[in-house]
Amino acid sequence: MKGGEPEAGILVRPMSLADLPEVMRVDAASIPRPWSASLWREELESPFGFYLVLEEGGEVAAHIGLKLVADELHVMTLAVRPGSRRRGHARALVDAAIAAHPEVKRVYLEVRPANVAARRLYVSLGFEVTGRRRRYYGDEDALLMTRDL
Ligand SMILES: CC(C)(COP(=O)(O)OP(=O)(O)OC[C@H]1O[C@@H](n2cnc3c(N)ncnc32)[C@H](O)[C@@H]1OP(=O)(O)O)[C@@H](O)C(=O)NCCC(=O)NCCS
Repeated sequence: MKGGEPEAGILVRPMSLADLPEVMRVDAASIPRPWSASLWREELESPFGFYLVLEEGGEVAAHIGLKLVADELHVMTLAVRPGSRRRGHARALVDAAIAAHPEVKRVYLEVRPANVAARRLYVSLGFEVTGRRRRYYGDEDALLMTRDL
């Protein structure tokens, strides 16, 4: 999805409960502590949640989850299946989520300091490190990254 033109066969759309098996497979291959099905269902039903999937050839290749908190968006989760990375999917999902909320003033997220791929992604999207959350992951601190819109 680089250069602003969507690739053929790529679609960004709202996540539904029916996507959860595929979304959870992407998570299991991507993040250290994937959410349970019940947590996913709770998040999807929350009035403050905003969840998108990116479909590639009819399969879920990536997803993003955010929470709208007053005039700020909090990125809760983002993952791209390993075979589909470095093709602009994460960038496309972050851009789509922000574009859907023109009223929002700031976007923020937490990231593991050792997660170089994610940190580079967020810097490339205009986020800056603005703080550190002690023991956010239990075993590790999180960097807080923020982008003012
Ligand atoms: C981080 C992650 C979401 C990036 O997804 P992606 O679709 O591969 O990212 P994109 O293709 O949109 O990358 C956009 C830019 O981010 C940076 N980037 C992404 N992955 C990178 C990597 N492995 N190394 C260095 N830079 C990277 C680059 O600047 C890239 O632009 P470029 O390809 O033109 O150089 C993906 O690696 C992933 O799912 N990781 C595991 C889960 C995770 O860490 N989620 C984030 C939790 S905070």
